[in-house]
Amino acid sequence: MSARFIDRAAFITGAGSGIGRATALRLAAEGATVAAADIDLPSAEETVAMIQQAGGKGFAVECDVAEEGSMRAASAEAARIAGRIDILFNNAGVAVRHPVGEQDVEGLDRVLRVNIRGAFLCAKSVLPYLTRPGGVIINTASIVGLVGVRNRAAYSLSKGAVITLTKNMALDYAHEGIRVNAVCPGFVDTGMTKGLFADAQKAERIRLMHPLGRFATADDIAAAVAFLASDDAAFITGQALAVDGGFTAGRPEDV
Ligand SMILES: NC(=O)c1ccc[n+]([C@@H]2O[C@H](COP(=O)([O-])OP(=O)(O)OC[C@H]3O[C@@H](n4cnc5c(N)ncnc54)[C@H](O)[C@@H]3O)[C@@H](O)[C@H]2O)c1
Repeated sequence: MSARFIDRAAFITGAGSGIGRATALRLAAEGATVAAADIDLPSAEETVAMIQQAGGKGFAVECDVAEEGSMRAASAEAARIAGRIDILFNNAGVAVRHPVGEQDVEGLDRVLRVNIRGAFLCAKSVLPYLTRPGGVIINTASIVGLVGVRNRAAYSLSKGAVITLTKNMALDYAHEGIRVNAVCPGFVDTGMTKGLFADAQKAERIRLMHPLGRFATADDIAAAVAFLASDDAAFITGQALAVDGGFTAGRPEDV
């Protein structure tokens, strides 16, 4: 494993589970000090224990990404403990699965609150501490922000917004030497998809939608985030990178 993040600090939201946890472990393995932030503090503490067990550095922070006061406090705490923030992985998110006609307003508000308001407030709170030049923001969008996937009206609306936020922020902060990109995962086996993958037939149908013939692992996404966070991606900003085994490349059927 390379060591691209020695003397750098990363603030990761949703670090207590799935993609956030895998990325926390990956960045720490490459030398970063990780602020593992989550609304579920014990899960973030578990991630930190895993980092430390592997010989890395990290600490847990409790936050609700959709609450400005909570995010301000969490960012200040992380910057104080780590002494700096070089990387923000803006990753916490929730999903709902319905077409517009069946989506209740409470579910709509919940997904927009965490995925859009959360991504916005998290960036706003961390920005004052972000290293300039050289700071990096990576947002977790989704393939459903790039193409339609049935039954995901509110969720795709939120992830499309994350992609437009990414592009706008890339332009707003380029002159300060801050890069802003998004990852767009295909279906990943995490807490979020547990219900979906419990149905074996559905899981198989979803697997076949990925031309490479498997779901993503959280480590696949973490590797892409580590690339975008690193100097290897020094000239990449404003991009939404699909990490999806070819899901968004087109129709996989031979016609
Ligand atoms: N799993 C997939 O197939 C998939 C595909 C594309 C995109 N994504 C996106 O990846 C991101 C991570 O999802 P995951 O699959 O790892 O899910 P997950 O449910 O395993 O993890 C999400 C984490 O976010 C935390 N969280 C939720 N609301 C929060 C809040 N208000 N403040 C702080 N933390 C909060 C949860 O406690 C949890 O630890 C999400 O943005 C999700 O939309 C997931």
